[in-house]
Amino acid sequence: MYKIATIGGDGIGPEIVAEGKKVLEAAGERFNFGINWTDFDIGADRYLASGKLLTEDDLSELSRFRAIYFGAIGDERVKPGVLEKGILLSLRFHFDLYVNLRPIKLLNGVETPLTGKGPADIDFVVVRENTEDFYVGIGSRFKKHQNIELSVARELYNIKFGLDVESDAEEIAYQIGVVTREGSRRVQEYAFDLARQRKKKLTSVDKANVLSDVYGLWRDVFTETKKKYPDVTTEFTFVDAITMWFVKNPEWFDVVVTPNMFGDIITDLGAMIQGGLGLAPGGNINPQGTSMFEPIHGSAPKYRNLDVANPIATIWAGSLLLDHIGEHTAAAAVVIAIEKSIRDGIVTKDLGGNAGTARAGSYIAECVRTGM
Ligand code: IPM
Ligand code: MG
Repeated sequence: MYKIATIGGDGIGPEIVAEGKKVLEAAGERFNFGINWTDFDIGADRYLASGKLLTEDDLSELSRFRAIYFGAIGDERVKPGVLEKGILLSLRFHFDLYVNLRPIKLLNGVETPLTGKGPADIDFVVVRENTEDFYVGIGSRFKKHQNIELSVARELYNIKFGLDVESDAEEIAYQIGVVTREGSRRVQEYAFDLARQRKKKLTSVDKANVLSDVYGLWRDVFTETKKKYPDVTTEFTFVDAITMWFVKNPEWFDVVVTPNMFGDIITDLGAMIQGGLGLAPGGNINPQGTSMFEPIHGSAPKYRNLDVANPIATIWAGSLLLDHIGEHTAAAAVVIAIEKSIRDGIVTKDLGGNAGTARAGSYIAECVRTGM
C-alpha cells in the first residue's frame, strides 16, 4: 500500500487531480498495488479563510508520505506570487526537491508546431535544478539606503549575506542568484545517471558568457562531474542558443541539465513543441525523500469546474510518480493509455476532441485497467 498525499490546490487543480487518481487506481488494480490517498486542503481558499499558506503541521504531515500528487495553485483573488512562493516553492525547498524532471516527448498522434518533426525527433528530458539560482528569494526593492541581512537555509548548507547598499537612484531593486558547488553537483550527477539509462548524451545549459560567477561555477562543476561519466557525450549551450535549437533541431537532445530559472523558461518552450501545456508533466524529486508530481501548467481559474481542462499533463505526472515509487510497468502502461486516448480521439477541446475532463480521464483509466 502506497501512501500518497494529494493537494488539488486552486482553479482546475482539484478536477485534474481527481482524474489522475482514477488512472493511478486503475493502474493499481491491473498491476496489484494499492494506494492510500490523503487529501490536503492547501491552497487559495484556505489561505483566504485563515491566512494559512503552508503550516508546520502541513509539512510534518506531508513528510510521512512517499509522494505528493499536486494539481496547481494560483487564484485571481490573491496577489501574484503569494501562493506560488508560499506554497509551491516552499514545498520544493522544504523537501529539498532538487531535481525538477520534465520530459519533453511528442506522443503519437499529437501535433507539434514544428514543421517536419515527429515523435522520433522530439523525445528528451530536461533536468532542472530546483532549489537554487534566482529562485532563492533573496532580493530587495528600496529607495536610497538599506542595510539588510539575507539568508538561504537548505539541508545542504546555510548562507547569510550582510549587505549595505548606498544608492542615489530614485529606487532600486536587486535579486541575488545563488549557485553552490554541492547543489550543482547533485543535480548534474542525477542528469548523468539518467543519460546513462537513455542515449548517453547530456547537454548543459548556462549563460556563463555574461553571468560568469554563478554560471561559471555551474560550468566548472559540470566539467569536473563529467570525468566520472566518460561514456556520456556532453556539450555546453548558452540558454539563448538552446531556445533556437529546441525549435530547429530537437532531435539532437537526450538529457538537458539546467539551472533553475533557465529551466523554467525552456520547459515552457518544450511544452509547446510537445503539443501544448495540457500535455506537459513534471516531477519534483528528492531521490531519498518525499517527492512531488504536478502538471507544469498553472491553475487556469477561468476554466474551473467547467469540465474542459485537459487532464493529460496531470495523468502523465502520475506516471512519473509511479516510476518514482518503483512501479515502472504501471508507469509505462499509463503513457500507453494516454496515447491510446489520443489515437481514439477521446480528448479535450485543446487537442481537437469534444470529451470533457472527466470523460477523458475515465477513458484513460479504463485503458489502463484493461490494458487495451
Ligand atoms: C513552474 C512554474 C513555477 C516556477 C511558478 C508557478 C512558481 O512556472 O513550475 O515552471 O517558476 O517554477
Ligand atoms: Mg514555469
